[in-house]
Parts: sequence; structure tokens; C-alpha cells
Amino acid sequence: MNNFIFENTTKTYFGKGCVKEYLACLSGHYGKNVMLAYGGGSVKRNGVYEEVTKCLKKAGQNVVEFSGIGANPTYAKVLEGAKLARENGINLILAVGGGSVMDCCKAISMAAVYDGDIWADFWARPGIVDFDPLPLGVIVTVAGTGSEMNGGAVITNEKSKVKTGQDYPMCNAKFALMDPTYTFSVPENQMVSGGFDILSHIMETYFSEPDEDNVSDDISEALMRGVIRDLRAAIKNPEDYTARSNLMWESTMAENRIIKLGKRMDFECHQMEHQLGAYTNCNHGAGLAVLHPVYYRHIYRDGLSKFQRFAVNVWNISPEGRTGEELARAGVEALADFIREIGLPMTLRELGVDESTDLKDIAGSCNLAYGGYRKMTHEEILKIFQECY
Ligand code: NZQ
Ligand code: ZN
Repeated sequence: MNNFIFENTTKTYFGKGCVKEYLACLSGHYGKNVMLAYGGGSVKRNGVYEEVTKCLKKAGQNVVEFSGIGANPTYAKVLEGAKLARENGINLILAVGGGSVMDCCKAISMAAVYDGDIWADFWARPGIVDFDPLPLGVIVTVAGTGSEMNGGAVITNEKSKVKTGQDYPMCNAKFALMDPTYTFSVPENQMVSGGFDILSHIMETYFSEPDEDNVSDDISEALMRGVIRDLRAAIKNPEDYTARSNLMWESTMAENRIIKLGKRMDFECHQMEHQLGAYTNCNHGAGLAVLHPVYYRHIYRDGLSKFQRFAVNVWNISPEGRTGEELARAGVEALADFIREIGLPMTLRELGVDESTDLKDIAGSCNLAYGGYRKMTHEEILKIFQECY
């Protein structure tokens, strides 16, 4: 095992009924003014909004609403939220939604108290957060990003066409409430793309050194098998509590830093997807589903032993009668088959990318990650995009 330091400051309340049980009490710790932030309105249709506002009312909170946070949240939306928070003397931001709402609110929690330009000082490049952001609480409504238990926030700057994430421990939510029944209403296409995002986070960590036995890779294999099993079960029955609750916690476990301890980590697929998102506003998990198999066909020979392990321990493929290279490749093809099985797109065309999109421009704008089995070049990324098309 490599050396590490670990802390996670988010107190997490998990399970059916947790919002009703804890929110009123929790919201009272920070002051009287709560900014209730949410997305495009799913919370109003599935009863979550009603349950949350009842709890806040019970606690005697003044509620200021901030709605309409869209997928791939923009810097403009962050500034709008920060202005509202300042004008209303907000004491607690309560983010109710998925990764987009949670991420936008993390950035708002900084922008609301910081005098400079947070994009320039903290997202365009990493900065040092030497001040306290506004306290943030999150209520998760869709499993996928794992944003509830880390300081990561992915923001899109529409002007410069850059979508990028930074992880500041100071932005960790003070508390996270996770009721799996809130995810029952997530439509199947969003559930599977969120599910694939979970798988992607685990693979981006797993497919990197160290390759000798380590706790992280062992946990990652169990998590990957779990995501595959639970997605299949939740597709069959969207109200399968066992499957939905497992997916919700698998999502958190993938991104609460535990499996990352001591690992180099790749995340090149995320770099590529983020720029695809910045140019086309595509769905995050669906974009990753298109990219992963093609990317892995490019690099599996550079991390052969791990890809062999993946084939055997995650996909239950027998090594018998296969060369090492064939075994590794069979694992990648099993991943591609699974993506097809759960109905995610396999090509950029299916993702909605058309001829008018300048793939060369997007490829040239991708960050080159250094933690994977082989460092990409912009030329190879363009090749990957062309093969995905
Ligand atoms: O906006 P509403 O109406 O609420 O609908 C949302 C949205 O359309 C819907 N939804 C959420 N909960 C629902 C529901 N519909 C019915 N019932 C419910 N209970 O789901 C749609 C997608 O929501 P969104 O928050 O955009 O999805 P997701 O959680 O996948 O977040 C994606 C964003 O997070 C970033 C992505 O890049 C993207 O911007 N990421 C954040 C990370 C982090 N902070 O650590 C890491 C990830 O790798 C990722 O990059
Ligand atoms: Zn992701």
C-alpha cells in the first residue's frame, strides 16, 4: 500500500425516511435562512419538494428558493445563486438533486463569500481555499456522481467552452441525506447513465498503479460486481429497494475518496467526456459509456495484468484457452456488451454528436491525465473520438 492521509468531513444519513427524521433538526444548526436549491422540477413531481419544505417549515426556517439548475451546471448559474445567497443573508445552502445541483451549490458556497472571481482562482486552475465557504447540506435524488461525500464540483464555463472539476475538501457538504426511495422516480435512461458513471469512477481508479495486491483494488472489484448486479435488478424493477439502495451507496463509495487512497488514478475518459460535454452538453454517464470501451481497446496492452484481473474477477471470464492478451481483451468486450445490454449509446452519433461538431477542436482542448497506464496525446484522443463516431 502507498502512503496516505484520510478524512471525510461529511456526516451521512442513509436510508428510507432519513429526511423526515433528521432534516428539521439538522437545518437548525446554521441559522434561520436556508437557500433551497434544485433542478428542473423533478422534485415537485415526485413529492420530494413537499417533504423537504415541510421539514424546513417545522424547523421554522426562512426558505429562499433557487431553482432551474440544469445538467452540466454553468458558471453563470453559480454567480446567479451566489448573488441570491448574498442578498438574503443565507446561512445554509440545501442542495436537493443530483450531481449538477450539488456541484453548482458547492461552487455557490464559495462564490457567496469570496470577493474575487472563483472561476479564475479556483476552477481554471487549482487554488487554496483559506476561507470558510457557506455551509452546505445535500439531499441526493439520483445515484451517480458521488458528489454528496466529496468536495468535487464540475462546472462549465460556457464562454471559454471549458468543463472542469476541482475537489476542495472545504466544499464537502456538512451533511448528506440519502433516501434510496427518492431515486425510484429516476427514469431508466438517467438511472443507467448514472449507474455507468459509478462504474466509470471505479474503473478510472482501478486501472492505474499500484498493480500489486491492495485494498483499493479489492474493494473496487466488489463494487463493480455490485453495480452490474444492481443495475440489472433495478432495470427489471425500478422500485427494488435492495438494488436502488445498493446503487446509491456504491455511487458514494466510488467517490468518497476511500478507493482512491494510495492509487495513481487515470480519469482520462472523464477529461475527454468533460470537453465533449462543454461543446455538446451531452449527458455525462452516456458520454462515458461511448468512450470507455474504445479507450480501453487503446490501452489494455499497457496494463495487461490488471485488465486480465478485471476479466476474471469482474466478468467471470475463464482464462482457460486464452492467451493473456485475449483474456484482457475479453474483459473489455464484456464491458462493451454490458453497455449495449443496458441500453446506453455506443457511438457519438447516438449521443447526438453530428458532422457540425469539430472533433479536432474538442480533442485539442482535453486535459492529458498522467495517472493511467499510458499518457494520451491529443492526436490519439482525436483517433478515439473518430473511432467512437
Ligand atoms: O433537473 P431535474 O428536474 O431535477 O431532473 C434531473 C435531471 O434531468 C433528473 N433527476 C434527478 N433526480 C431525479 C430526477 N428525475 C426523476 N426523479 C428523481 N429523483 O436527472 C437528470 C440528471 O440530473 P443531474 O444532476 O444532471 O445528473 P448527475 O447526478 O448525473 O450529475 C451530472 C453532473 O455531475 C458532474 C457531471 O459532469 C455533470 O455535470 N459530475 C460531478 C462529479 C463530482 N462532483 O464528484 C463527478 C462526476 O464524474 C461528474 O463529472
Ligand atoms: Zn463521472
